[in-house]
Amino acid sequence: MTTSVIRQKTSLQDSVLEMLNTQMVVEAHSSAAYLSMSAWCYAQGLNGSAEYFRKQSGEEREHMMKLFNYIADAGALAVSPAVVNVESNFESLRYILVRALEMEIEITENFNRMTEQCHKVRDYQTARFLQWYLDEQFEEEQQARRAVEIYDLMNPKDALFDIDRQIHHLMKKD
Ligand SMILES: [Fe+2]
Ligand SMILES: [Fe+2]
Repeated sequence: MTTSVIRQKTSLQDSVLEMLNTQMVVEAHSSAAYLSMSAWCYAQGLNGSAEYFRKQSGEEREHMMKLFNYIADAGALAVSPAVVNVESNFESLRYILVRALEMEIEITENFNRMTEQCHKVRDYQTARFLQWYLDEQFEEEQQARRAVEIYDLMNPKDALFDIDRQIHHLMKKD
């Protein structure tokens, strides 16, 4: 298909569409990863953290669907993501909290790169759409960083129960 024919169906350029579909996979993976973290926490009796991660999992799915809707509304083809390599064995709550922070930092980087690419190909509409994700990432990174801080500020040996409660309090109220 020539570019002009594609353009009659969708305003999205190939490189932008590919990027958005790739990010759908990343959001689906985050959703599955958080669900797996939630499951581990429940099994340890860390119900506060388990609920926190279950909610995160739901939010990541919403992020994925927001991309799906954008692609579909633009008249292009969204690809339903396959999720592989989801960690399910964790050594500790701290490991999970650090892993969650690392994931969020990587995802912020994705959105920075995607926004840069949109500017390069002069797709300012998609760049503006991605701004929502950058704002969201700012919050999510901050929250994930705070969770690690809370863990480290309290003495985990004596305070795992309280740490769990504090992490539960971090849940965004809406
Ligand atoms: Fe996300
Ligand atoms: Fe996230």
